[in-house]
Amino acid sequence: MTELIARAMRTADIPAVLALERQLFPHDAWPEEFFRQELAQADERLPANQRTRRFWVVEEAGRIIGYAGMMCVLPLADVQTVAVDPAYQGRGLGSWLMGLIEDEARRRGADDLLLEVRADNPGAQRLYRRLGFEQIHLRRSYYPDGGDALVMRKSLEHTATAPAAPAKVGPVGSELASSDTGRETWPSKEDRR
Ligand SMILES: CC(C)(COP(=O)(O)OP(=O)(O)OC[C@H]1O[C@@H](n2cnc3c(N)ncnc32)[C@H](O)[C@@H]1OP(=O)(O)O)[C@@H](O)C(=O)NCCC(=O)NCCS
Repeated sequence: MTELIARAMRTADIPAVLALERQLFPHDAWPEEFFRQELAQADERLPANQRTRRFWVVEEAGRIIGYAGMMCVLPLADVQTVAVDPAYQGRGLGSWLMGLIEDEARRRGADDLLLEVRADNPGAQRLYRRLGFEQIHLRRSYYPDGGDALVMRKSLEHTATAPAAPAKVGPVGSELASSDTGRETWPSKEDRR
């Protein structure tokens, strides 16, 4: 695996993101318009108080292999979406994306980070529990196909910043490199698998 880059999602990324979205969320894929509306609210030209969203894509050699998005309207932040190409799952990328969301939520001063996850998605629930989320509600028939949603929360108040996820879940020696350019890289040492 070559170096992975997380950068801001752009409108031009939507076709590639949609292809993954339809594969990963067969029952409740977001339509293109949802992504457009979310990105419009992430526009850096907006005043800070109207820039309520932030979305990322993860690229390997220019190919999008994951994406995530957050909303923050203080005092709450929400995980809008998180998704990783099946061929790349189980290597820590989902944890990395969740770490980016959590860091941004903390930077903006959110008290809590919330998310909804399908009741029939135990894999994602296990990941969220490992990252410190707990179930606070059950929303019945939340999804278009009638599926229930667990509402989960991680309190961000008075807790230390989440460790960079790959340091915990990646292979020994992998580290998250941050920059203030809006890009984050996850340099691979050797082949990660
Ligand atoms: C949920 C999702 C984003 C997680 O992404 P991911 O990249 O697989 O997440 P991670 O690799 O960080 O963690 C997943 C598991 O892999 C394990 N893992 C992490 N790094 C690993 C590594 N280097 N080697 C082997 N396993 C590893 C983690 O321990 C974790 O195990 P767990 O199931 O016990 O928590 C991904 O499965 C996905 O896109 N699913 C479909 C869409 C979806 O359901 N999204 C969530 C909507 S709420």
